[in-house]
Amino acid sequence: MKTLIITGGAGFIGSHVVRLFVNKYPDYQIINLDALTYAGNLANLSDIENCPNYRFIKADITNAEAINKIFSENTIDGVIHLAAESHVDRSITDPLSFINTNIIGTVNLLNAAKDAWKGCNFEGKRFYHISTDEVYGSLGDEGFFYETTPYDPKSPYSASKASSDHLVRAYLNTYGLPTIVSNCSNNYGPNQFPEKLIPLFINNIKTKKPLPVYGKGDNIRDWLFVVDHARAIDLIFHQGEIGETYNIGGDNEWTNLDLILKLCEIMDKKLNRASGESKNLITYVKDRAGHDKRYAIDFSKLNAALGWKPSLNFEEGLELTVDWYLNNVDWMENVISGEYEKYYTKQYVNR
Ligand code: NAD
Ligand code: TYD
Repeated sequence: MKTLIITGGAGFIGSHVVRLFVNKYPDYQIINLDALTYAGNLANLSDIENCPNYRFIKADITNAEAINKIFSENTIDGVIHLAAESHVDRSITDPLSFINTNIIGTVNLLNAAKDAWKGCNFEGKRFYHISTDEVYGSLGDEGFFYETTPYDPKSPYSASKASSDHLVRAYLNTYGLPTIVSNCSNNYGPNQFPEKLIPLFINNIKTKKPLPVYGKGDNIRDWLFVVDHARAIDLIFHQGEIGETYNIGGDNEWTNLDLILKLCEIMDKKLNRASGESKNLITYVKDRAGHDKRYAIDFSKLNAALGWKPSLNFEEGLELTVDWYLNNVDWMENVISGEYEKYYTKQYVNR
């Protein structure tokens, strides 16, 4: 029997990882450790919340004492660390929250794992840190990010994630803590907080609000369906080599504008609107400060080592995603109203 902590399990990617592990590994105990910030939503996990191998613990990773207590009260075999402040625009207006959660929070977890596991000399233990391709900086028209690409983060978000990646590797080098890191491209899919491009634009198209395109809309992102990221995390956690870094990507580059036009086209059909109606909502707004031009991941190492590749093409993934948001109106309304946060915080506090 294995007991794993998945941090940030109430968030977008974390909830898909928790669901996959709870369903696929009935003899594991999965602890979802999450502070339930504005981005954390236990409604993302309502389908598995009563499973006997699932437990939620409300805790803030910036609180070292609380984290140490969880490690001393439970025998933890592995950590999959996703908890983070994750939105670039918020990092521009409030960098300190990113430093606190992404850097200090990560160090608190590393310390707790190191102290709890040193007695058994780290035998059978694993600390897996989930990171982003944004640590590599910004690409021009050509080239890809490889695991060997030097770090060159350019936003407070990516700089805080880069710092946490360095610290994770330093704990392996210095203390022998068995760590693995993966760096993934932009995710999309169900349960993403509607401040990120795709869910925000789906909701704005639906409600006929302006679609705020930063700059000229010519920035490029490499999009991956969130369940494919969760599959990669499962493989890397179980079969990845300690000390290695794995890039995960979609092989799926889109300029923001082309992606938005595609989304408008899909939604016009689904909402029975005249073809071309929704694209009239596109509004060009001031560019994001320091906006990274292009991200593109080379994931051939992961493909060669563990046989992973994306399972869905983008059209299928986008259709599934649009359908999910259109069919889950209550989820969107609760998230936007902030009601879910109050409700779930009250329910789970002190549990
Ligand atoms: P998210 O913002 O949707 O979720 C973050 C979760 O972490 C939330 O549930 C939140 O409550 C929790 N959290 C935040 N601060 C916390 C704290 N101090 N203590 C405990 N819990 C806290 O983020 P996401 O998009 O699901 O990203 C998850 C991870 O994957 C992050 O580490 C992010 O850097 C990384 N990542 C994201 C993407 C992407 O496209 N979204 C791509 C690559 C990597
Ligand atoms: P986002 O979803 O915030 O992810 P990231 O910044 O981590 O890549 O943004 C994706 C792209 O879409 C990015 O180039 C910024 C752009 N964007 C807009 O043009 N308008 C918006 O309202 C948002 C949220 C993003």
